[in-house]
Amino acid sequence: MPEPRTDATATHRRVLTTGASSGIGRELAFAFARRGAAQILHGRDEERLRAVADATDRIARDAGHAPPAPLLLVADLAEADGVDRLLAGARADGPVDVLVNNAGFGTYGPFHAPATDRDEALVAVNVVAATRLAKALLPEMVARGRGGVLNVASTAAFQPGPLAAAYYASKAYLLHLSEALSVETHGTGVTVTALCPGPTRSGFHAHADMGEARLVRTPGLFLRADRVAEAGVRAFERGRRVVVPGFVHALGATLLPRLPRPLTLAILRYANAPVGGTDRGAASG
Ligand SMILES: NC(=O)c1ccc[n+]([C@@H]2O[C@H](COP(=O)([O-])OP(=O)(O)OC[C@H]3O[C@@H](n4cnc5c(N)ncnc54)[C@H](OP(=O)(O)O)[C@@H]3O)[C@@H](O)[C@H]2O)c1
Repeated sequence: MPEPRTDATATHRRVLTTGASSGIGRELAFAFARRGAAQILHGRDEERLRAVADATDRIARDAGHAPPAPLLLVADLAEADGVDRLLAGARADGPVDVLVNNAGFGTYGPFHAPATDRDEALVAVNVVAATRLAKALLPEMVARGRGGVLNVASTAAFQPGPLAAAYYASKAYLLHLSEALSVETHGTGVTVTALCPGPTRSGFHAHADMGEARLVRTPGLFLRADRVAEAGVRAFERGRRVVVPGFVHALGATLLPRLPRPLTLAILRYANAPVGGTDRGAASG
């Protein structure tokens, strides 16, 4: 077992978390608060972001830290200038030590159906924004010889996912990007980690309108967002390349992609299909 790395999350390191207004991102902000980080919290919903900032402050103080008040940045990362505005705001008060690319969303239904008409925005947020943020901030981290990137991918990253095709592909991109960057940055003092959670309780599935999917109707599979976040930050501190929280999900992520491809695709098609109905989206268009 490697020694825990503490420099990347040492007290008052500046951590920028995208999508910190809810779900896994909010819990990641809480996990960094327990470590005394100076936080830059991003989201679109300013009111929820403010509530997260207040809770973050309390958690940090309860843990015996006195970081500066979190900096709140509101930006829609699907918009052309969203990343530029976020970067300008985040850099205004000093360098960013840790980038957490967490903001993201899913779409559900056949790719050819109207229900997936947000796929282009999905790529803009899950792929383009995450890439642009890493591209902008990683060189500065390498020059300083410290810091890192924690990318929130998914177990969806390990194989294609019929009925959520663009989402699974976007997470595969993020996983592969993270793995390659972790090798490129080896020995620079900077680390890159991909956090790959399985289904996790958050606003994600409601936003993706996928409440009918068989996978989502299997509550026993769902993880707690706070546990996912803690596992992610711990793995990041240890400089791990990839982490899949939970034994069953880690096993699935290992085995599913290794099955004959037609079988993997059939399993995912079954898991993502609506319970007892026709394909959502296909039916509506
Ligand atoms: N929940 C799961 O089962 C699961 C599993 C594996 C991976 N993940 C990944 O975990 C990450 C967090 O998702 P979650 O489960 O915590 O879902 P969530 O509760 O819906 O949170 C998504 C976050 O992303 C932000 N976001 C969404 N679209 C955005 C946009 N256009 N511009 C800027 N921010 C945007 C949201 O901001 P606002 O709310 O302020 O708009 C929110 O803070 C995502 O990357 C997701 O793919 C989730």
